[in-house]
Amino acid sequence: MGHDVASPIGLGPIGIQAITHPDGELASSKAAAKLNQVQILSIGSNYDIEEIAAGSNNNLKMLQIYPSKKQEINDDIIKRAKKAGFKALVITCDTSIRGNRESDIKNQFSLPSNLKFKIWSRYVEKDAYKHKTGTSAHADFLKHFIDGSFSWENVRQYKQKYNFPIVIKGIMSPEDAVEAVKCGADGIWVSNHGGR
Ligand SMILES: Cc1cc2nc3c(=O)[nH]c(=O)nc-3n(C[C@H](O)[C@H](O)[C@H](O)COP(=O)(O)O)c2cc1C
Repeated sequence: MGHDVASPIGLGPIGIQAITHPDGELASSKAAAKLNQVQILSIGSNYDIEEIAAGSNNNLKMLQIYPSKKQEINDDIIKRAKKAGFKALVITCDTSIRGNRESDIKNQFSLPSNLKFKIWSRYVEKDAYKHKTGTSAHADFLKHFIDGSFSWENVRQYKQKYNFPIVIKGIMSPEDAVEAVKCGADGIWVSNHGGR
């Protein structure tokens, strides 16, 4: 991505970081910048793209997305990331169908009411993320939002349309690694989402 980093170890996309500390992604971003490490901001961040860019600079930042079913949302998010100085897009491709997180359902996992999905919230209706009894609001929201039909063809289209480096996250086989590169990916991320 044209950047020197202090080591090949960086911060992966972890959503909802403010659940552990109010400064959430802003704090981890500042730490990454201080150490000149790569940071990948999750689209499920509690801080917005521009807030992260303003809070830290000079290190390599990438934005991770789950492609939305609505193209205009993807367009706007990517435009904002480029403008804010992010150097690449990480597209997570292993979450078209979410794992059956039984404990999330049992615990009716939902975003605590004092927190917001800052990047997402401007694009979705106010009650898109609503606590319901007997289910995980988080899983329901992602099912409603994520484009489960995202394909290799879309990777090609993204490369042409956005003129932005793309990393495919969630590659698990040599065949998919080769296909990702054929479709124009600038990087692959071997991952099974922590088995989740
Ligand atoms: C609490 C938590 C939140 C996560 N949020 C995201 C996310 O928003 N986007 C994403 O692509 N991966 C997310 N992940 C997955 C991690 O980025 C990563 O893939 C996983 O921890 C496994 O590491 P590995 O990819 O290096 O194998 C999350 C993981 C955890 C534990």
